[in-house]
Amino acid sequence: MKTALVPISFVLNGRPVQAEVEPRALLVHHLREDHRLVGAHVGCDTSQCGACAVLLNGRAVKACTLLAVQADGADIVTIEGVAGPDGLHPVQEALHRHHGLQCGFCTPGMVICAIDMLATEESLDESTIRHGLAGNICRCTGYQTIVDAIAEVAASGTKGA
Ligand code: FES
Ligand code: FES
Repeated sequence: MKTALVPISFVLNGRPVQAEVEPRALLVHHLREDHRLVGAHVGCDTSQCGACAVLLNGRAVKACTLLAVQADGADIVTIEGVAGPDGLHPVQEALHRHHGLQCGFCTPGMVICAIDMLATEESLDESTIRHGLAGNICRCTGYQTIVDAIAEVAASGTKGA
């Protein structure tokens, strides 16, 4: 028997969207397969890597740990939506300046997590940033340049998205 689809509607990167999803569909799969937003990566099957992170109502969440139906009524921002009309988000620019990426697989999740931290943390020193990145795994950079990039944005006074 075919599973009945569930209608959902939410704001995706600033635009209202509607969809019908299987009740068991994960948000990350819905974003990648139904909206063709493939910046949220699937890097593990244990909810550890953070490469799938998106902003849900302004907070970073691992899109592999949520069902698509849980996005109903929410405001979702993926990595494709963080740049503004004038160009890259300051976190993206800083990662570029500091060479805070190599293969780039983890980078969307790092950017989303950094935006969350900038919006929610009173002050961001190296230790707070490292703690905030605990749920994001990078296999390439050794983290220092990622931390340096986020610290630079925090020092500039930029707050979140
Ligand atoms: Fe979501 Fe790894 S794919 S945490
Ligand atoms: Fe390759 Fe982080 S830059 S996994």
